Amino acid sequence: MQTRTLGHGPRVSALGLGCMGMSAFYGAHDDAESIATIHHALERGLNLLDTADMYGPHTNEVLVGKAIKGRREQAFVATKFGIVLDPSDPAVRGVNGRPEYVHAACDASLKRLGIDTIDLYYQHRVDPNVPIEETVGAMAELVAAGKVRYLGLSEASGATLERACKVHPIAALQSEFSLWTRDPQTNGMLAACRKLGVSLVAYSPLGRGFLTGAIRSPDDFDADDYRRSSPRFIGDNFARNLQLVEQVKAIAADKGCSPAQLALAWVLAQGEDVLAIPGTRKRSRLDENLGALDVQLGAAELKAIDAVFPPDAVSGTRYVEEGMRMVNA
Ligand SMILES: NC(=O)c1ccc[n+]([C@@H]2O[C@H](COP(=O)([O-])OP(=O)(O)OC[C@H]3O[C@@H](n4cnc5c(N)ncnc54)[C@H](OP(=O)(O)O)[C@@H]3O)[C@@H](O)[C@H]2O)c1
Repeated sequence: MQTRTLGHGPRVSALGLGCMGMSAFYGAHDDAESIATIHHALERGLNLLDTADMYGPHTNEVLVGKAIKGRREQAFVATKFGIVLDPSDPAVRGVNGRPEYVHAACDASLKRLGIDTIDLYYQHRVDPNVPIEETVGAMAELVAAGKVRYLGLSEASGATLERACKVHPIAALQSEFSLWTRDPQTNGMLAACRKLGVSLVAYSPLGRGFLTGAIRSPDDFDADDYRRSSPRFIGDNFARNLQLVEQVKAIAADKGCSPAQLALAWVLAQGEDVLAIPGTRKRSRLDENLGALDVQLGAAELKAIDAVFPPDAVSGTRYVEEGMRMVNA
């Protein structure tokens, strides 16, 4: 398995497994196949498993915990805290980065995961009402207590990351990064990561499935699928984005790989300090996605991809307005 260094710390598999869709957002769940997919990933040497307390909510951590039982040493478990759902309406969200909450959230995640130490603990979203120094200070206490090994932030700006690193080393910044979401390259995030020795972990590297070419119509989604209301997947945006994907498919066909593999190879080609955590609930797709590790893109190919899919080509924002407000740009 190809590995990459996380921050100044451990080497983990260059491709991780995003477990979110196994319990939330993307329609029907099949826990047995999801657990088999996690087992298959570990058997193939993929060790970076990504979850969060708000996926489910909570059930995704329980699922991951079940899957790694008896295989703890094979897994590098990353989870997140900080997005708080209103119990009466999970669509209503807040952010909590207060120190006492950080401690309580960590204890709850450890319990659900059934482990003694979280390998990588991310703040899921920066709390605008709590100085980052206070939140990361509490996260550092978790490291000192042996409950967490490495720290991460998600969707934090370069400036916030710099402040956080003064309190405690940050191993990883997790952000959406893919052919259709180039923000980390344009908003200074990737540059800040490089300056500070922080790895960039690309989430939704397959554009929530769209870049694979498998999604042909909004009708492909289950009734409760989150993407039915996501700006890039609705109305004219869907049709325009589909035209871009047709071009990705053509380049992939020339290269002799699948569109999903091309999309992942593009992310991994952005630097040795970039990792990707594609999500899938199926073993067959995991195998396909791991095939991206064998797809090497040269400078001319990256240029050709840029020509058909330039950084600002996508139609629609990546979240609705409320979600965009939670991003610490
Ligand atoms: N930090 C954050 O705020 C944040 C936000 C979103 C996600 N994440 C993390 O990032 C992970 C990955 O992101 P994501 O799941 O949103 O999006 P993604 O990895 O871009 O795409 C996942 C979607 O693509 C489909 N898929 C995967 N491989 C495929 C293939 N080879 N061919 C066709 N379809 C394929 C999956 O369906 P199947 O399951 O049916 O294969 C799923 O619907 C998540 O699981 C989560 O852990 C973090």
